[in-house]
Amino acid sequence: MILDTLEIDLELVSQSRLDEVDFDNLPFGRVFSDHMFIMEYKDGRWCKAKIEGYRALSIMPAMSVLHYGQAIFEGMKAYRNEQGEVLLFRPEQNARRLNESARRMCMPDVPESMFLDGLKKLIDLDREWVPKQEGSSLYIRPFMVATDEYVGIRPSDSYAFIIFTCPVNSYYTEPLHVKIEEEYTRAAQGGTGYAKAAGNYAASLYPAKMAQEQGFRQLIWTDAIEHKYIEESGTMNVCFVIGNKFITPKSSDTILAGITRDSVTKIARDWGFEIEERKVTVQEVIDALKNNTLIEAFGAGTAATIAQIESITFRGQKFELPTKEHRNFSNKVYAYLDDLKNGRVDDPYGWTTRL
Ligand SMILES: Cc1ncc(COP(=O)(O)O)c(C=O)c1O
Repeated sequence: MILDTLEIDLELVSQSRLDEVDFDNLPFGRVFSDHMFIMEYKDGRWCKAKIEGYRALSIMPAMSVLHYGQAIFEGMKAYRNEQGEVLLFRPEQNARRLNESARRMCMPDVPESMFLDGLKKLIDLDREWVPKQEGSSLYIRPFMVATDEYVGIRPSDSYAFIIFTCPVNSYYTEPLHVKIEEEYTRAAQGGTGYAKAAGNYAASLYPAKMAQEQGFRQLIWTDAIEHKYIEESGTMNVCFVIGNKFITPKSSDTILAGITRDSVTKIARDWGFEIEERKVTVQEVIDALKNNTLIEAFGAGTAATIAQIESITFRGQKFELPTKEHRNFSNKVYAYLDDLKNGRVDDPYGWTTRL
């Protein structure tokens, strides 16, 4: 079957695994819903779109992704509102970002309508997997890998695009102790930092492990050239409230354009904050910590929405931030985004899609 409009073959499981799942105790990322969406790219076209049981893939040892790493992914969530409807949050942004990643990695675009049709059909079929428990959601993982059976460095001719999902409980993180990293780098100018390329995450494991061994939960990444500018925090974008300004590093080729950060920034603007999206120096953050004008710092990303930063360590000196209870903006924006995503308040931004 060749795809012009997305026709999806359905090969549904005869027996759901829903009954085996304890929705009150879900380990993050280890429980998988009944079905997955899969589509192949061959001869310059996407073909064979299918929803079938979540299963092992059969791969050859020479499959090119295993050697040369053409692999990209997305991360998003579906939520259930009080009426039992399922809501997606800005899914077209994930479709758009997947394609930005794809272009950087010499992979084919997934037309946005195909991404969204496949996604919606999958979530609709597995809607019972969207947890009903307060704070829970269905984590969605779309990804694409190179599938040529070929040992040689060149872009693959064939690819697979897959979406699978995992029900997850509320992602609560203790406020984070972070360190400003000046040795290792997540992304360099001209590199792949703005893409959700699997290799970026592999490269960040070692520095993160080193930081954890020193007692930090996460790193604050700085630029690769001078380690002078703040980029991201772990796998989240980073935001600061300094005085009455909302300040966040501007997206660039070394910073992933996070959908949460974008949403938080738009809301902050509407709530009357002065917004500064620009290069943020380590020095100005340290100065603001020293003169007590840095009142809030947090990571922004799909998993936690907002992850409060409790302390920042720079060159061995630890700076404590005001406690979580005193953080008016980030507490309020977290609650508001949670209400929006779960359909508890009107959505003036048109960010939610109901299924
Ligand atoms: C490196 C990195 N930065 C930022 C983010 C936050 O992006 P989003 O808000 O779209 O989840 C993520 C998570 O996807 C990430 O992996």
